[in-house]
Amino acid sequence: MGIVKFDCSGASAFMARGELDCLEPYVRLAHEALHGGAGAGSDYTGWVELPRRPDMDELARIKACAAKIRGDSDVLVVIGIGGSYLGARALIDALSHSFYPLLDRARRGGPIVLYAGNSLSPAYFADLLECVEGRELSVNVVSKSGTTTEPAVAFRFFKEYMERRYGRAGAAKRIYATTDRSRGALKGLAGAEGYETFVIPDDIGGRYSVLTAVGLLPIAAAGIDVDALLAGAREACEEYRNPDLAENGSYAYAAARNALYRKGYSTELLVAYEPCLRFFGEWWKQLYGESEGKDGKGLFPASAEFTADLHSMGQYIQDGRRNLFETALSADAPRKNAVVAHDADDIDGLNFLAGKDLDYINKMAARGTLEAHVEGGAPNLSVRVPALDAESMGAAVYFFEKACAISGYLLGVNPFDQPGVELYKKNMFRLLGKPGH
Ligand code: PA5
Repeated sequence: MGIVKFDCSGASAFMARGELDCLEPYVRLAHEALHGGAGAGSDYTGWVELPRRPDMDELARIKACAAKIRGDSDVLVVIGIGGSYLGARALIDALSHSFYPLLDRARRGGPIVLYAGNSLSPAYFADLLECVEGRELSVNVVSKSGTTTEPAVAFRFFKEYMERRYGRAGAAKRIYATTDRSRGALKGLAGAEGYETFVIPDDIGGRYSVLTAVGLLPIAAAGIDVDALLAGAREACEEYRNPDLAENGSYAYAAARNALYRKGYSTELLVAYEPCLRFFGEWWKQLYGESEGKDGKGLFPASAEFTADLHSMGQYIQDGRRNLFETALSADAPRKNAVVAHDADDIDGLNFLAGKDLDYINKMAARGTLEAHVEGGAPNLSVRVPALDAESMGAAVYFFEKACAISGYLLGVNPFDQPGVELYKKNMFRLLGKPGH
């Protein structure tokens, strides 16, 4: 068995085994469509084989630039939105010290990673510029199209700011552009200014791009072992090329969520008991929401951070409208642990926990919650990795990407386009007076 373990026993009370078996021929067809390049959106399936054939020259350049950034920068600002930002943030948060911005430079060993271009909030932007003042700064601007408004606006500010601080030539040595091979305004700008440039392959769309330079440069700059991340993804890539539903956990996850969707469970809640996985939930929501939510179809992807959200969303999950199921993402081993001490006075009445560690208590909370939610009518799927380390998370990324593509095909949609995100842009451009709108 591979790194990621999938278990749908928490959903068995809600669907018969036969319901999954019925999907077997459809899963096989989806697999053939994906691997044979005959499925909808097949021009964007370069990520499927990517872990097997990484671009070693590009990887070496990523590592060299990450080492430079770690050496000369207190802050790295990653400018991007959607698939050009969420994957990096998901993995940096999952794999870093929970409070790493508060660690001193020597303990961090590299820059704090901050993010821009993922909103148009003036306060966020002004606060960010205030915080980078006086700190050595590098910028990684990421945009496949090179024309997305939010990051383009943020980069206009940062380009001007960097040139004011470091001079035009100095700024060019601290700005890294990740974009299309040949198209888009960012590509033109990067060429004209001489920025170090990384390529987002033509056949990989934004939300499937975290294992390209899009994610790897900021992740490596944050001090995370990208070789281990890619090794995990590679192992998952080998494991999940097996078309047999009974042997393929990623496909079993796709089939289970499809079977639940057919029974009216139209909302999927990705839950984790680790705050550091919050942005993994954000990345997952984009992956599934943008891939499946079209043509009037699709599971609504939501996420929750337990146990915190048990005190806000717990009531609804336990007792509200019965159209949701949970997918619990967990790690067997905690990154760190602590044991509850015995207290002679026991005024807080917690001596029943004395000698037990927090990881055990957290896992009992998870088990109790699972039992309660299943009893309340919310099916549960479980995705487990051995640890919150780079190898496991690389495998988890690939597990979810592969399942997403298969899910999209099972649903009968193109999991690689996003036509629905254009309308707000058209309206915004018209309101802002962009020529031609
Ligand atoms: O997954 C996608 O394709 C989108 O979320 C894009 O990544 C997002 O819209 C940003 O686009 P771009 O990288 O072109 O700036």
